[in-house]
Amino acid sequence: MWHSIFAYIKYLFLSKSKYSIHSPFVYDFVTKGLEPSISVEYSQKLNAFRNDLLDDNTVIEVSDFGAGSKVFKSNQRKICKIAKYASISKNKANLLQKIICYFKPIQILELGTSLGIGSAAMRIVAPHAKISSIEGCPQTASKAKEYFQKHQVKNISILTGKFSSLLPKLCQKNTFDLIYFDGNHQKKATLEYFNTALQSIHNDSLFIFDDIHWSTGMEEAWNSIKKHSKVTLSIDLFHIGIVFFRKEQVKQDFVIRI
Ligand SMILES: C[S@@+](CC[C@H](N)C(=O)[O-])C[C@H]1O[C@@H](n2cnc3c(N)ncnc32)[C@H](O)[C@@H]1O
Repeated sequence: MWHSIFAYIKYLFLSKSKYSIHSPFVYDFVTKGLEPSISVEYSQKLNAFRNDLLDDNTVIEVSDFGAGSKVFKSNQRKICKIAKYASISKNKANLLQKIICYFKPIQILELGTSLGIGSAAMRIVAPHAKISSIEGCPQTASKAKEYFQKHQVKNISILTGKFSSLLPKLCQKNTFDLIYFDGNHQKKATLEYFNTALQSIHNDSLFIFDDIHWSTGMEEAWNSIKKHSKVTLSIDLFHIGIVFFRKEQVKQDFVIRI
């Protein structure tokens, strides 16, 4: 909690507006990708999906493989509470949709499906993408599948299992355009997933990391990721961090306020 507050104050001091961006690639991304609003139709579809989950009082037994929760005390959790406190927020989903509309990735992988709001957000704006998402908790994964069916969110492949067991095989066999890391917010695990996922990149791949300032550990993980020799560009938008591997890019780190 205190870490996030201090991190936000630091971000406010360090972050720059679009007028201080000297990289044409990043300037175009911010002005053409992040600034324009997302279509109302996209937001309405996702709101319908989210609101339905927010009305669901069913209780499930959650297996927690991640960093634990700052909100939940028990593993018996109501779907509406998971949707409210442990799922991607409206603003973040909106940001994710903008990033996808701009870069148009086809091969997408998400680490941490939860109830599927992030996957649905991606599917809505990228009907032709091949989306896979890993979720460790079987009951949560099965709820996500139920809601995909109910809302006709098609062709999302949910892989049920631990990131550490499924990710290495997936990354050996596939090349991903985008990987969204949204589960197990711990330093060691995040760095392990990052290093494994590097096997699956190409020059224009991008990785999005959720909650990079959530804790001291995540802050340290983000700093190591930025410094990695394969990472040529990083963009800190506070709630998420994005890294690119473009070889033509001079190594640069941006902290941007949008
Ligand atoms: C923050 S939630 C993901 C939110 C989701 N991306 C969304 O759009 O709403 C993190 C999810 O990752 C799963 N998870 C955490 N650590 C995991 C691990 N090591 N292996 C598999 N799943 C894990 C949790 O069960 C949880 O459902």
